[in-house]
Amino acid sequence: MGEFTSEQKQGPILEGPRPAVPGRRRGRVPGPAAPLDGHEAAAILERTRAAVDPELRRAVDSLPGSMRRIARYHFGWEHADGTPAVGNAGKAIRPALVLTAARALGGRGVAAVRAAVAVELVHNFTLLHDDVMDRDTTRRHRPTAWTVFGDTDAILAGDALQALAQRLLAEDPHPASGAAAARLAACVVELCAGQQADTAMERRGPHEVTLDEVLAMAEAKTGALLGCACALGALYAGADEADVEALDAFGRELGLAFQLIDDVIGIWGDPRRTGKPAGADLMARKKSLPVVAALAAGTPAAADLAELYRSPYDEGDLERTVLAVERAGGRAWAQSQADGRIGRAMRELFRAVSDPEAAGGLLALAQFVTRRST
Ligand code: IPE
Ligand code: IPE
Ligand code: MG
Ligand code: MG
Repeated sequence: MGEFTSEQKQGPILEGPRPAVPGRRRGRVPGPAAPLDGHEAAAILERTRAAVDPELRRAVDSLPGSMRRIARYHFGWEHADGTPAVGNAGKAIRPALVLTAARALGGRGVAAVRAAVAVELVHNFTLLHDDVMDRDTTRRHRPTAWTVFGDTDAILAGDALQALAQRLLAEDPHPASGAAAARLAACVVELCAGQQADTAMERRGPHEVTLDEVLAMAEAKTGALLGCACALGALYAGADEADVEALDAFGRELGLAFQLIDDVIGIWGDPRRTGKPAGADLMARKKSLPVVAALAAGTPAAADLAELYRSPYDEGDLERTVLAVERAGGRAWAQSQADGRIGRAMRELFRAVSDPEAAGGLLALAQFVTRRST
């Protein structure tokens, strides 16, 4: 990522020239104004971090000491012993979607910062809980909060972050804050149902889960929050209902692509880049998207995978399991599904924003999702 002056950090995501509103026509799906490269997404994510971090830290620092300590550790701002750390608080994709969607619909990013922080707080609440549920021991290159503070404290800190998110919106004088709070609360309910489905699927046999079921689960656990982030940006821009729904649909498709790639890099990614161990989903016999696609292939590799999945994980199984998913086509399917979802996402986006320049930031983030390796 390039260096930013402080002026650039406040840059277009907050205050720069707004896209022309005539772009909000419904019409033909145009191509991007200029070829997109990863730099644009990286710059948006970096500007988002700069824009949301002060409010995010203020919110977390308002927590009582015990909760604050766990949350500050989780965000990478503190070591386990409470000394300051130079953190990795995550990629900031969801707050970037809030701010970029607000601007795409002719609003000001700066007016939507609280909504962006609320979404990021909810995301981090889900991560704290998810690592307890998945018994994952590493996230963002560090031991997960539950391994440091125990399950109870990690769960409670997650609850506190979710409450902070609702409080931020409840106290926000922006006219869209009430609708945003209702939408975010509904999203959390959907996300919980998705997480329930995900964990329940672990206990089912390899042929008892269908592709449709696992896609619906991924939409609920991940798509709902990315959709909500985009919808909140639209709400804060004063968009009409049809445009808010189009942005929600865009974010949901993007969220599915995001989860497809997350599952791929959870198997084939480099832990030095992802900050999470590779293969943990396979060892836990998770019905991730590439696995369910591979199981459905009806090939010898699919039968081998089903056999492995029927028995508890055994030391030394991992390489064979990874190979079976790949040979049964799970990886290729997930990558092409992700590309297809991005295509669908773009069609949803252009229902609300047909001017390529106005849509540019969201398109850059969409491309980043399928090309990411972290
Ligand atoms: C991880 O999300 C959880 C999923 C929905 C797959 P991210 O990969 O966006 O997490 P951070 O915030 O960047 O670490
Ligand atoms: C992603 O869960 C969805 C939520 C956290 C709600 P996963 O379990 O698939 O994601 P990672 O790989 O742990 O980040
Ligand atoms: Mg997990
Ligand atoms: Mg999980």
